[in-house]
Amino acid sequence: MAQNWTPGSWRQKPIQQVPEYPDAAALAATEATLATYPPLVFAGEARRLKKQLANVAEGNAFLLQGGDCAESFLEHGADNIRDFFRAFLQMAVVLTYGAQLPVVKVGRIAGQFAKPRSSNVEVQDGVSLPSYRGDIINGIEFNEASRIPSPERQLDAYRQSAATLNLLRAFAMGGYANLENVHQWMLGFIKDSPQADRYRKLADRISETMDFMKAIGISADSNPSLRETDFFTSHEALLLGYEEALTRVDSTSGDWYATSGHMLWIGDRTRQLDHAHVEYFRGIKNPIGLKCGPSLTPDNLIGLIDALNPANEAGRLTLICRFGHDKVADSLPKLIRAVEKEGRKVVWSCDPMHGNTITLNHYKTRPFERILSEVESFFQIHRAEGTHPGGIHIEMTGKDVTECTGGARAVTADSLSDRYHTHCDPRLNADQALELAFLLSERMKSGRDEKRLAIANA
Ligand code: TRP
Ligand code: MN
Repeated sequence: MAQNWTPGSWRQKPIQQVPEYPDAAALAATEATLATYPPLVFAGEARRLKKQLANVAEGNAFLLQGGDCAESFLEHGADNIRDFFRAFLQMAVVLTYGAQLPVVKVGRIAGQFAKPRSSNVEVQDGVSLPSYRGDIINGIEFNEASRIPSPERQLDAYRQSAATLNLLRAFAMGGYANLENVHQWMLGFIKDSPQADRYRKLADRISETMDFMKAIGISADSNPSLRETDFFTSHEALLLGYEEALTRVDSTSGDWYATSGHMLWIGDRTRQLDHAHVEYFRGIKNPIGLKCGPSLTPDNLIGLIDALNPANEAGRLTLICRFGHDKVADSLPKLIRAVEKEGRKVVWSCDPMHGNTITLNHYKTRPFERILSEVESFFQIHRAEGTHPGGIHIEMTGKDVTECTGGARAVTADSLSDRYHTHCDPRLNADQALELAFLLSERMKSGRDEKRLAIANA
């Protein structure tokens, strides 16, 4: 176990991005209540994910991680969860087919409620109020009552996470994710998009293969791997009081696990080596992520890896790189070289969203071309360095929103206002997400062909 660590030892450290709760006693009471609630995930599941991520670190699998920037209490309908899940499954199938590798499936869901903000206050028409920090902390409506942090929201977030996770488990294990349903995951509004044709062709090939396999005695009925999938949850563990209350000893191993989700990550704004978030993360055994932005130096990174993964365990640490399309070529190679030189086992994942945010017509948006460009650079750089481009981390939704510009069915600057629904950052709509999956799948297919050629010529 990590030395001198307890689930609450982070409280002795400096901390960034903490909400100011007016009533400390009420906050403590809520945390005490949460500590009596059952865990949302089981430690064995987190270990299973870690094993799958170890496969990614070794170059034998690909990580797909995605979901809302911020989940909201208002959008907690079954349709929302289902539409997200089917868009995600479509991406997973496209990637599995292209990479011919297992795809590790991790949603940014069932706990993604707390948001770091660049300013503590938001000013509108001369009125200054605390910034919105996510539904687990305060309300998005711009009035004083809603913006004051309220502890009870943590109980609502717990309940919403539990219900979301329950439905996702049912979908993943109960038949919805059966590969025999590959055609049915197509979303209505995608049917007339350029992605629809591509997806239908792929789905036809899969169906045909399934029919062939059935004929030779391998069916979904007799093979769980054809009808079920492992789907894991993740979120940024920003609100440490909530996380602490759900940190439990696993009775089978005696280790501490965060049980609010399978994988947690540290944000780019809260990754100071001697601060609270790194302190909390070093003691939990879950697979964890670390967001890496342009300000992270190779020395910083190695120091963080020492603290977070001292045993150099493959699958423990995923580096989620979010540099921006114009900075990735500058920032990424030196980090890769430092990690390689020190022989550290990590998963390299690309977050092409957070470094590519601009403002257009007063909307925060992300041009799809820049997102693609960062992904392309990420793959090229890894190819040049001889390392594995292990995964992708995106903000996406199953809905037909207009939040990021571009894509084959182009969202224009003027159409941003049509269906701009996000509570925080702009997300890819289902169509754009699928288009990105096809692009990735082509990259991975050509990477595969190159490798085969190299082996054949050796
Ligand atoms: N069990 C395999 C996997 O999860 C195959 C599979 C079943 C699958 N349903 C899926 C793959 C849905 C992608 C999407 O990879
Ligand atoms: Mn975001």
